[in-house]
Amino acid sequence: MTAARNIRIAILGLGTVGFGVYELLKRQEGELEAKTGLRVEVAKILVRNIAKPREGVDNTLLTDCFEEIAEDASIDMIVEVMGGIEPARTYITKALKAGKNVVTANKDLMATHGGELLHLAQEMGKDLLFEASVAGGIPIISPLKQCLAGNHITEVVGIVNGTTNYILTKMAAEGMEFSDALHMATELGYAEVDPTADIEGYDAGRKLAILASIAFHSPVAFRDVHTEGITKITAADIHYAQEIGCVIKLLAIARETDGRIEASVQPMLLSKNHPLASVDDVFNAVFVHGDAVDDAMFYGRGAGRFPTASACLGDIIDCMRNIHFQCTGRISCTCYRNLPVKSMSETLQRYFLRLQVLDKPGVLAAISSVMGRHGVSIKQLVQNPTDNASYAELVLITDTVREADFRHALDLFLQMEQIREVSSLIRVYE
Ligand code: NAP
Ligand code: HSE
Repeated sequence: MTAARNIRIAILGLGTVGFGVYELLKRQEGELEAKTGLRVEVAKILVRNIAKPREGVDNTLLTDCFEEIAEDASIDMIVEVMGGIEPARTYITKALKAGKNVVTANKDLMATHGGELLHLAQEMGKDLLFEASVAGGIPIISPLKQCLAGNHITEVVGIVNGTTNYILTKMAAEGMEFSDALHMATELGYAEVDPTADIEGYDAGRKLAILASIAFHSPVAFRDVHTEGITKITAADIHYAQEIGCVIKLLAIARETDGRIEASVQPMLLSKNHPLASVDDVFNAVFVHGDAVDDAMFYGRGAGRFPTASACLGDIIDCMRNIHFQCTGRISCTCYRNLPVKSMSETLQRYFLRLQVLDKPGVLAAISSVMGRHGVSIKQLVQNPTDNASYAELVLITDTVREADFRHALDLFLQMEQIREVSSLIRVYE
């Protein structure tokens, strides 16, 4: 029996995920041959700072020169876990053109240049796999591309950012305000030093662009996704949500309606009965609706060294199997349609609205009259006293309405002297 061939891998990046991939490859070394028919060898590891001490790593593998990898024809595969758009985009392009397969965890890159890179991979007959780019360790890209390929998917809704889910969970459980919960997330290392991408919904927006493109077989770019973050959510909003049997979650939602795509990330009121409502702390989950499978939910850790490395290893193994059976490039870009993306103003929504209003006769009638003229019907209304006896707090939940109509009504509210402040405006998931 001839010895199995070695697959030579270069890892680009040795940070949180890169080190996890390196460790997991070592942990799996004895089993990879049985799993794939091939053996694996880490040939090179690209880092920015070669002088940085790296415990547990064979330092002879380190390089800070990508050309050494690109020009080494014996390297079969690169695993890009550096992050960012450049130089990752250039390196992946060069690797594919040099006939190498690629595994990446890079959502920023795949959400903006995924189409172009996948087409290049297809042209070169190579694999470009990116399971780790959405929801870390949770399998969702492969299930959408393969196991659920027999469905017409109509909705993908997920909690795909662990930092914000942790913050909202703390706010709900301990009545904390946003800034205190963010501070706690930073102390625990969940939130980045600059948490903007997480708390403003950009990180979730990039993941949603990737998911929507795959689910609806039609390109959706990050710029097509309407994003709103959680910075304006208050303990009071969460309290009111709880009173009406809801939680507030940062939801990434993509739908196909009337031959068009809706894609948005925003904090939303979600019924406690929905399976996503019990996804707490840093956990992520993605809920998919397809015409054949009905509802399916994928749950787990959306980030972290080994959960993310788990997704990368799955892709590495997939690619090794494809190399073994000489069928790399089997599944690349799965977009065969080009559906338009709806603007938010055309979507149908329900709203939770918290207002500070003058506490005197006729105010409620005036508010309902403005709403009625714009086709907004009020489904639920709660009035509470405030510290100032002249004012009351009104919480309204509307029926479903076109966002543009609701915005017109809101513009008029802001001109009414009876309304002191619109304190919160949050959409309701249905
Ligand atoms: P990280 O800890 O910051 O590590 C980045 C690594 O890449 C470092 O080793 C760095 O080298 C190297 N690097 C960066 N720019 C480079 C350049 N221009 N040339 C050579 N090496 C460079 O990042 P990470 O958290 O592991 O994330 C990596 C990727 O995985 C990102 O795309 C991220 O979005 C994605 N991801 C991360 C997670 C997670 O939980 N962290 C989850 C899902 C997906 P030095 O060590 O020399 O600085
Ligand atoms: N910052 C992300 C999160 C993890 O909090 O979920 C990396 O995708």
